Amino acid sequence: MTDAPLIRLTNITKVYQMGDMEVRALDGVSLEISRGEYVAIMGPSGSGKSTMMNVIGCLDTPTSGTYELNGKLASAMTDDDLAQIRNEEIGFVFQTFNLLARTTSLQNVELPLIYAGKTPAQRHEMAHKALENVGLGTRADHMPNQLSGGQRQRVAIARALVNDPSILLADEPTGALDSKTSIEIMALFEELYQRGNTIILVTHEEDIARHAHRIVKLRDGKIIHDEPNTPITSEQHLANLSL
Ligand SMILES: Nc1ncnc2c1ncn2[C@@H]1O[C@H](COP(=O)(O)OP(=O)(O)O)[C@@H](O)[C@H]1O
Ligand SMILES: [Mg+2]
Repeated sequence: MTDAPLIRLTNITKVYQMGDMEVRALDGVSLEISRGEYVAIMGPSGSGKSTMMNVIGCLDTPTSGTYELNGKLASAMTDDDLAQIRNEEIGFVFQTFNLLARTTSLQNVELPLIYAGKTPAQRHEMAHKALENVGLGTRADHMPNQLSGGQRQRVAIARALVNDPSILLADEPTGALDSKTSIEIMALFEELYQRGNTIILVTHEEDIARHAHRIVKLRDGKIIHDEPNTPITSEQHLANLSL
């Protein structure tokens, strides 16, 4: 263990060339996130949230600036090295779950373990445990279409965490869920945070961001706000719904 932050972005820019036009999707972003933090990245559509998530998740490299992840200089890596660091360090959760359709919950969760070179017996045990950790121990043999939206997202979260990554990175994880189910997923995130996971939640919804312990706001590719937050509880959020 070191005292260095898990994530350190220094003066990051990402510029897209669109014909004669330059789009500065990220425009001088500096940010540090420590192990064990739960941070929401907020901002309106087009503010640069997904671009930032792609850089943090090693899916894309910045135009300029440096990105250090767990002490490694990710901004200078080749695609192969990025793919490896991504597999080891990042668990992704997406708005649309991205589960394989004709594949059981258990097999979906086992998938990252195949790439990680685990034996079938190890895979089975680790995937079962990951499903139990999200409250789906009894749904291991269900196909995605036999599960509710919230349950599907839980399977995706189990898959993201099965390799014990350094960071859980979730891009609009409640975007396809109704309000009540969204709150259940936020309750699970709080539980995962309490167990020591580092969580980065990307959302344009104020209500959802209020579950995090720190809120970073983007506008036009710049950070305009970065403050600790006293999280709303799921009970409070539920009570607000019926006001
Ligand atoms: N591949 C791309 N090519 C060109 N422009 C892009 C690309 N990806 C994003 N952008 C532009 O960068 C800006 C930020 O986009 P994005 O990061 O997707 O924002 P958000 O996720 O907050 O909606 C927007 O103006 C968008 O149009
Ligand atoms: Mg986006």
